Amino acid sequence: MTNRDLNDFSDDDLFATGDIFARRELLRVGHVPDRDRIVGRDTELQNVGQALGPAIDGGPPSNIVIYGKTGTGKSLVARHVTQRARERAITNDIGFSHVYVDCSDADTETRVAREITTQLADETPATPDIPDKGIGANEYYRYLWDLLESRDVCIVLLDEIDILRDDDVLMQLSRAEETGKTDCYLGVISISNKIEFRDRLSERIDSSLQDEDIIFQPYDADQLRTILENRRDAFKPGVLQDGVIPKVAALAAREHGDARKAINILQKAGELAERENDDHVTEAHVERGQRKAEVQRFQELVSGSTPHVKYLLRALAKLTENREGDAFSTHEIYQVYQSIADAEGSDPLSQDRVYRLLKEQSFLGVTESRHTGGGHSEGSYLEHRLMRGSDVVLAALSD
Ligand SMILES: Nc1ncnc2c1ncn2[C@@H]1O[C@H](COP(=O)(O)OP(=O)(O)O)[C@@H](O)[C@H]1O
Ligand SMILES: [Mg+2]
Repeated sequence: MTNRDLNDFSDDDLFATGDIFARRELLRVGHVPDRDRIVGRDTELQNVGQALGPAIDGGPPSNIVIYGKTGTGKSLVARHVTQRARERAITNDIGFSHVYVDCSDADTETRVAREITTQLADETPATPDIPDKGIGANEYYRYLWDLLESRDVCIVLLDEIDILRDDDVLMQLSRAEETGKTDCYLGVISISNKIEFRDRLSERIDSSLQDEDIIFQPYDADQLRTILENRRDAFKPGVLQDGVIPKVAALAAREHGDARKAINILQKAGELAERENDDHVTEAHVERGQRKAEVQRFQELVSGSTPHVKYLLRALAKLTENREGDAFSTHEIYQVYQSIADAEGSDPLSQDRVYRLLKEQSFLGVTESRHTGGGHSEGSYLEHRLMRGSDVVLAALSD
């Protein structure tokens, strides 16, 4: 064994985290900041507060639906106000509970019912064990109505509700009181990233869940800058170079004013500086941080896709590499896709199937598909354009 194989670092070195971050938890997505760090959402906070107002005295809250693009502070505002409401209710001696369900994890009626029920059971002493599988939604509801017996008010936050595959759970919750299932006042705050969801929701469950709806608008660059400034203390003093926050805000403003993206880019930039043992976070870190954040988001977006979808996105990215921003015919994409599938040792799907998968990707916003202008005699056909840089897509799909 040579000397080089012997490490000479202490435990302090082993766990060293560098000189960049002071409170990195402030940059986590689930972190619910204090009121004085929340920017430009006074009206929205108050609207949600008014809906929950009666509940802090044990009265019936209103149901609300919050709509808005990702990263506009919907989850944050809903969680913040619910937590404050709980604190107030407790000082008033009200039996107040709240549960938070992310429908992107719990996307069926049974899963949502289970999630609500187990969260309530967890905070209720001496409850029977609730099975996590093998029972259906109706049995969870029975547990739920029992658990609600001991409470005055319960607020259910259903986040990412547009992902929910059926609306029956909404129906159950909105009708629980009138159908005599419970005397506890239930308040439902539904949150949707899709504004289009509004029509569908009102069609399915009339107005019972939408006493009020609130639309959250995207942030502008100034607001994003303030949101980031308010989290500057995630970093050690003096670590962020002057141009860093304005640059992150400008980048995120360009991508539809998404505060999550802004915070995420700042975090990635900090992590790069940390990993490279730099003393400062610079604009160069921001540029690379943005790219990393983009690659990561794309990976998340396609993480549930089949290998063939990934092959065909790789095919489209390869074509795009030489002609960034261009659109390609299904046939062109299919040629490249076939050779990728072959190289991966898997039987290519039919061109027809690939055509349909491409249309699906356009629905998800990964690609944009549109008909060519070609006159009737030539026949118009569908062309597909990648909505991301090819480098991002290729990096995301490379492992
Ligand atoms: N007005 C705001 N002030 C401070 N931070 C915000 C604000 N809006 C959003 N954020 C932060 O941005 C990120 C995304 O917000 P979130 O509420 O999850 O957005 P949405 O639910 O609309 O997608 C979170 O880290 C959140 O703390
Ligand atoms: Mg959210």
